[in-house]
Amino acid sequence: MRDVIVTMDGPSGTGKSTVSREVAKRTHLPHLDTGAYYRAATLAAIRAGVDLESEDEVTRAVGVADINEEHDGVFLDGENVSSEIRGGAVTTHVSRVSAYPQVREILVDMQREWVKSHGGSAVVEGRDIGSVVFPEAEVKIYLDADPSVRARRRALQFGDDPDDVVADLERRDTFDSTRAVSPLSIPEGAVIIDTSALTFNQVVERVLDLIAAHS
Ligand code: DC
Repeated sequence: MRDVIVTMDGPSGTGKSTVSREVAKRTHLPHLDTGAYYRAATLAAIRAGVDLESEDEVTRAVGVADINEEHDGVFLDGENVSSEIRGGAVTTHVSRVSAYPQVREILVDMQREWVKSHGGSAVVEGRDIGSVVFPEAEVKIYLDADPSVRARRRALQFGDDPDDVVADLERRDTFDSTRAVSPLSIPEGAVIIDTSALTFNQVVERVLDLIAAHS
């Protein structure tokens, strides 16, 4: 197959992570979860003890952090932090940290470098991948789903109270979609797939069809 970048954007609970991982596996492309970068950056700032309200302080902490993603996990300064970045503290603060333009600049560079160093082809999931990180990507997907469906999926995934999940999703959706820099939006040229009434396999097949149509 020719070099191909597949971008997968959309809000939480649409199945982005599981779908993009499966698509990467089936196409033998490397997979990059950019949300994990923002989560690791948030953990770096928390661990550094900086004021999370200060963009400059957070940027300094993120600037000296060694963040990397490999198939066996997400690493911060050499430590596998895959579980910790999914915890409450990081989840509470990640929207704020990811809204800082200087932080985004550092992480977007890291994401582009990651794809380059993995051969130039990849399935990349996030919020701004088709619009900002790889606007020239060959295949752009935007996954969406009804808020109630998304909350139910998240609750099932993490065993949380669905009401708390709805509140948290709404809070993060609003923050992520209204921030000044790179808000969550449908990238130009993206194919929208509403996953509300589709099975996991149906979504995967649809994405694979779009990739096949490109190559
Ligand atoms: O996909 P996730 O829930 O792990 O993402 C964590 C946070 O990071 C989410 O609140 C939005 C932010 N994010 C972002 O701003 N840009 C990306 N490309 C990926 C995630």
